[in-house]
Amino acid sequence: MRTLDWENGAIIAIDQCVLPHQETVLHIDTVEDLIAAIQRLAIRGAPALGIAGAFGVALATRERMRNGVLDEAGVRKDAERIASARPTAVNLRWGVEQTLTVLAGGPEAVVAEARRLMDEDDRRTHQAAANAADLITELCPPRPLRLLTHCNAGALATAGPRGTALGAVFELAERGHVEFVIVDETRPLLQGARLTSWELARAGIPHRLCVDSAAASLMRRGLVDCVVVGADRITANGDVANKIGTYGLAVGAAHHGIPIVVVAPESTVDADLTDGALIEVEERDADEVRRVLGMPVAPETTETFNPAFDVTPAELITAVVTEARIMGPRTVPAGRAG
Ligand code: MRU
Repeated sequence: MRTLDWENGAIIAIDQCVLPHQETVLHIDTVEDLIAAIQRLAIRGAPALGIAGAFGVALATRERMRNGVLDEAGVRKDAERIASARPTAVNLRWGVEQTLTVLAGGPEAVVAEARRLMDEDDRRTHQAAANAADLITELCPPRPLRLLTHCNAGALATAGPRGTALGAVFELAERGHVEFVIVDETRPLLQGARLTSWELARAGIPHRLCVDSAAASLMRRGLVDCVVVGADRITANGDVANKIGTYGLAVGAAHHGIPIVVVAPESTVDADLTDGALIEVEERDADEVRRVLGMPVAPETTETFNPAFDVTPAELITAVVTEARIMGPRTVPAGRAG
């Protein structure tokens, strides 16, 4: 199945909170449940959030239909709540706004539009991944590559079968160009460990998991040919918001002369924002840091910083690759490996 779809008047989605140990399918048939699923990250990843937002409007139209009359104002209120369930990934609001354009057509038109967006995003994501694979091949040495990825930008993060950054990895693996993938575990919620490792294992691609703080030293040891990540929002000047830790990877990659390639569909580009300083970065609950998988690892009163994302300035990114264009590539700085 797709990681996210629409079936019999409900969103069906793999519950990403319980992977990799349980493969549970959620049936979400109310706006309230959708917002809760998005906020606890059962559905996550920018492109997947876009499609969830689109189907969320479909849920709202079903809930707001009384005696054959659609309460459009009510749907718009619900739509706003869905769009602001998480603030950083622009795709969520994009998916909501796209489907609202056909609201007058009622629930069926909204579902049809959400399905259309899902199929289109799937095609776009696939193309972006293929473009990125071509570029990475050009940028890197002509041998099976050691690729480092962060968080999860695979099938689980999109409504398609392969994803963005991980889609590029799958493409390169099919071409015989991958030696292994280094997977950052991605504290605090471990999307790399739980989700990316799961996807790579299912695809039979060699990979090694590391703690986030190992990445820079692996670069220094010459074990990383390219960093490849997804994005939650890309501003007009090419700044990129992505999972917290991406900025550190970009700093490390620049220091060691390693290319860093961002892969995303155009729906992740927010041309209305001139630069990354304007991106709202979601701050999440302190217990995500004070606990690991529910187990306390710090005193309960410890104060925390828990930004879910960071913003990497365009000058540190080698290229942003979408289905339609390549922003860059910038020259990779002369590195200091070993
Ligand atoms: O908090 P998450 O898990 O939704 O964060 C996801 C990421 O940061 C991904 O890298 C990004 O959405 C790109 S997914 C193709």
